[in-house]
Amino acid sequence: MEKEKYLSPVLETLRHYPLQAGIEKAAGYAAEYAAGIGARPVYPHGEALAELEQLGGEVPEQPAATDEIIDILGHAGSDAAVSSTGGSYFGFVMGGSIPAGMCAGVLSSAWDQNAAKYAMSPVANELEGICEKWVTDILGLPAGTAMATVGGSSNATMIAITAARDALLARKGYDAGRDGLFGAPEIRAVIGAGAHPSVYRALSVIGLGSGRVEEVPCRPDGSMSADDLPELDDMTLLILQAGALHTGAFDEIRPICEKAGRAGAWVHIDGAVGLWAAASENLRHLTDGLELADSWAADAHKGLNAPYDCGIVLCRDRSALTASMGGADLSKIDVSAGTSRRDNMDYTYEMSRRARSVELWAVIKSLGREGIGQMQDELHAKAVYFAERLAGAGFEIMNDVTFIQFGAHWQDDETTAKVLKTVQDSGVCWMGGAEYKGKFCIRICVCSWRTTYEDIDVSADEIIRAAQKPR
Ligand SMILES: Cc1ncc(COP(=O)(O)O)c(C=O)c1O
Repeated sequence: MEKEKYLSPVLETLRHYPLQAGIEKAAGYAAEYAAGIGARPVYPHGEALAELEQLGGEVPEQPAATDEIIDILGHAGSDAAVSSTGGSYFGFVMGGSIPAGMCAGVLSSAWDQNAAKYAMSPVANELEGICEKWVTDILGLPAGTAMATVGGSSNATMIAITAARDALLARKGYDAGRDGLFGAPEIRAVIGAGAHPSVYRALSVIGLGSGRVEEVPCRPDGSMSADDLPELDDMTLLILQAGALHTGAFDEIRPICEKAGRAGAWVHIDGAVGLWAAASENLRHLTDGLELADSWAADAHKGLNAPYDCGIVLCRDRSALTASMGGADLSKIDVSAGTSRRDNMDYTYEMSRRARSVELWAVIKSLGREGIGQMQDELHAKAVYFAERLAGAGFEIMNDVTFIQFGAHWQDDETTAKVLKTVQDSGVCWMGGAEYKGKFCIRICVCSWRTTYEDIDVSADEIIRAAQKPR
């Protein structure tokens, strides 16, 4: 029987779609959004959020026209987007997206590369290898350090401490990859009491338990001092922080790493917020001793202002990382196109993934070592300026502005919360709230390359107005 040559009417329609025009249409909306970011409310208002309803409803039974989809996203989607790539967004630790990174992302979407293996995408694997060399050099890490891109620092820390776990257990002749953790020798996890929640989560996910960690008491700014460390040993995983979430404070990296090194402990540094300080001559003292650690997590989508989905895991001992992540027999996937080139999937738990290093490469190339350092200096200077503006109006600034974040308190917790709500509703700027030293604060982080001193003045004026004339 002759096999029917089935053709899907839906796919036939798509094959006739003028793709170039469609991409230009989408790019038109993207360009309009990006160029007009300063005129948008910083946080979408109620009407814009209600518009999102258009995107829901029952499962679409029939196909929709591509142009219609682009139009919905170009209007309802853009209207509901948070303007974190603009200059007046100061929430969390977000970072904007510098032009080369944003544009590279557009191109990379069209390439749609699978970055898992060199055989699947030479460009995605070569660029990640190049970024490995550049990032380790910019951060001053040991030559030969392995690097891979991941979704974010949560993932980076989870992967790095999995490599740490396996390497520590291997010292006792135990193969955790093969035998699991049943009956495994004990590992001590020692972390600062100011560690980010993602660190507890990573410890929990990899079977080291978030509840059995040894917490080291921290200074009021959330940083750890070498004097407070417990005795360490060669079965200890010690996790430090470069840049505390709310205060930007850095642990005493060098003396802590030196103690840990003498004891044979594995040191991981959560540098989601602060690792890029190492690129600045003026701020590098904050990360002094960074190179003594064994593994690091960083976020290019934060202080480097790369587009989102660009976390970075780094590990001094390449074979510890690849043994832990590539331990399974990955040759089963493909034996036809063997190559001696880097395969990204050997370095993290992911196989198929997008080519994050396209944007990372573009951002590093665009800024250069000089620009990356200057960006850290400028973000820091602007955070200091912002804090001074608020302090001048009577706000209590809760921390030294070590890096790019600070908390500001007004009168009492309730009044501060009201001021924050008024500011958030204004659409002029956006920032969140946090508790510092037992007081509720307006929490501000200056993390976007787009932020100007004028943006800060306008935002500070809005906060001061809200405080002095509560609505
Ligand atoms: C100190 C710290 N560590 C880890 C993370 C988690 O990073 P990500 O959101 O990229 O997973 C954050 C997020 O802000 C952070 O501030």
